[in-house]
Amino acid sequence: MTVETTSAEKINQLFKAHSLDVQGVDQEFVTRFHTSLPKIQGLFQELYGVHEEADFQLLELLKCLIQGYQAREEQLRERDRNKAAEGYWFLSQHLAGMSLYVDRFAGNLETMPSKLSHLQDLGVNFLHLMPLFESPQGESDGGYAVSNFRKVDPRFGSLEDLIALRKTMHDQGMYLMLDIVLNHTSHQHDWALKAKAGEQEYQNYYYTYENRWIPNEFEQAMPEIFPESAPGNFTWNEEMKRWVMTVFHNYQWDLNFSNPKVLQAMVENMLFYANLGVDLLRIDAPAFIWKQTGTSCQNLPQAHTLLRLIKQCVQVATPGMALLGEAIVAPKDILNYFGTGDFIAQECDFAYNATQMALQWDMLASADTRVMLQAQADILRKPYGTSWITYTRCHDDIGLGYEDASIALTGKDPYLHRKFLKEYYSYSGDQWMSPARGALFSSNPKTGDARISGTLASLCGLEKALFEGNEPAIEQSIQKILLMQAYSILLGGLPMLFYGDEVGYTNDYSFQQDPSKSYDNRWMHRPQVDWNKVNRRKVEGTLEFQLFEGTKKLLAIRKAQDLFADLSNVSWMTPHNQHIAGLIRRKEEDRCYCLFNFSDQPAGLTWYAFREQGEPSTQLFDSWSEMSYAIGPDYEHLVIEPYGFRILTPR
Ligand code: GLC
Repeated sequence: MTVETTSAEKINQLFKAHSLDVQGVDQEFVTRFHTSLPKIQGLFQELYGVHEEADFQLLELLKCLIQGYQAREEQLRERDRNKAAEGYWFLSQHLAGMSLYVDRFAGNLETMPSKLSHLQDLGVNFLHLMPLFESPQGESDGGYAVSNFRKVDPRFGSLEDLIALRKTMHDQGMYLMLDIVLNHTSHQHDWALKAKAGEQEYQNYYYTYENRWIPNEFEQAMPEIFPESAPGNFTWNEEMKRWVMTVFHNYQWDLNFSNPKVLQAMVENMLFYANLGVDLLRIDAPAFIWKQTGTSCQNLPQAHTLLRLIKQCVQVATPGMALLGEAIVAPKDILNYFGTGDFIAQECDFAYNATQMALQWDMLASADTRVMLQAQADILRKPYGTSWITYTRCHDDIGLGYEDASIALTGKDPYLHRKFLKEYYSYSGDQWMSPARGALFSSNPKTGDARISGTLASLCGLEKALFEGNEPAIEQSIQKILLMQAYSILLGGLPMLFYGDEVGYTNDYSFQQDPSKSYDNRWMHRPQVDWNKVNRRKVEGTLEFQLFEGTKKLLAIRKAQDLFADLSNVSWMTPHNQHIAGLIRRKEEDRCYCLFNFSDQPAGLTWYAFREQGEPSTQLFDSWSEMSYAIGPDYEHLVIEPYGFRILTPR
């Protein structure tokens, strides 16, 4: 069976029923609609061709695109046009982001505007506000268990407050990023409540089973995401007397996207967010959105088809909203979220550069850049017109998910290397020399896997140094923090800082006393902001001052040069010294060499490294230290202090 090609007559009827002015004000929309229609039909056919109501559901989806467009206020349409005129607006080096919890950072949405100046002062103009929609207290997974996609959780304020904040932000030249939690809902969501009450219509929104047969079949190939706090992938629901798929926590019910009604409902929610004025929508956990027995239920081809379909829908109805796929998966799998084949650069506009993030922690612990360089074969394949979110820390753990092969190619044993990293960062006692203070997250004794929790500052040694009152160690951790930030800020993509890191927040262990958080040590790196501490950043000599000013300078350096726009213009220098990562950003004849020494010793790079790149100049200016260097003979070196870096432009 195939989806009937939607006839011109049906489309005309649809337009008429919605009073679209086809040749007048709505012409641009109508053009977008017609351009995307064949793709939408094709993708829909791939997913739902065999569904008994496929034709009807396709028309319903098209209707919701028209309604999404019609609900868009004129100012946002104008913003769409301006973005389109700019081309790939989101590749610009003028964007710099921060992720934050509104309550932990500012109190609530109403008080948030008063804190914008702190961010603007830093150079941040792009805000990822962590989940704001209703989520049951105590079973919220930091807001990623949503019970109502349209109602702001009263803890933060109201929908009106959110819209007011967005307007203020847009007026001040800022951008807004929010999440859509696509893979699951809270078990308290209306759909789940109806499913529990026995309504089959809503049981079909989830994966529910009366016995263990199918769940057992699934479990054979599905890994566990939170093996310690939420083992297994199914939960028995006594009210419903059925098993329900819960890949994350048992209170997060996986949505069943093989039901086209689920797709439609979630597209409606996405367009609702677009019409709140969201500039970038973070699609939470997209790797998981399609399930099939006999597979890991991650990264399935249908998940990509679904994302492509979503991209087309957004492109038609609310084109100014870009999409970010939060796919924290193996390096080569991440790349597929940008689209492949005919859909290259037509799936997610952004993905997290989770591989680079993990690798910078690898380099910091091992003082060795070789594993990172091995992984570039995958990373540099990012298609033009898409971009990375680059980051050092976020609200989640650090997974060491890069390929064993990248490690093995450097002559290291992958198992032992990962063991070393976990011990180095987790303060497990085995690496007592390690300055890092973090903890293992989601250890799985069955597979030996574990990820790492901890703030940037604690993982860089600041917590230990402060505890010991060790001044040189404090200075060194500040240097390491800035090295890590410089690396992710200059790497290519939209840098996304994590709140608190700009003033050096160390781990907060109070989550252990809160039963709704104690099972999840990621809370140690989600600080409750104390504005007295933050304000110390205005007092010269404080560590807050050094970190804030340093981060600010890095963002300013990036903004000042066009070659830091994400023009897919990243290459790596020959690793003449394995402690030094040498990144080159180019635009036409311009170039910038960004050099990072990940060692605790001074490291020298032969001047030949520049000559080898065809560098014709004799002088290099470092925007960080504001010093000039004469390029010396091949047998001499540029020497970089421990954990130091240089941002060199030829003069
Ligand atoms: C994403 C979020 C993470 C959450 C998970 C389940 O990975 O970043 O915090 O636990 O999805 O929603």
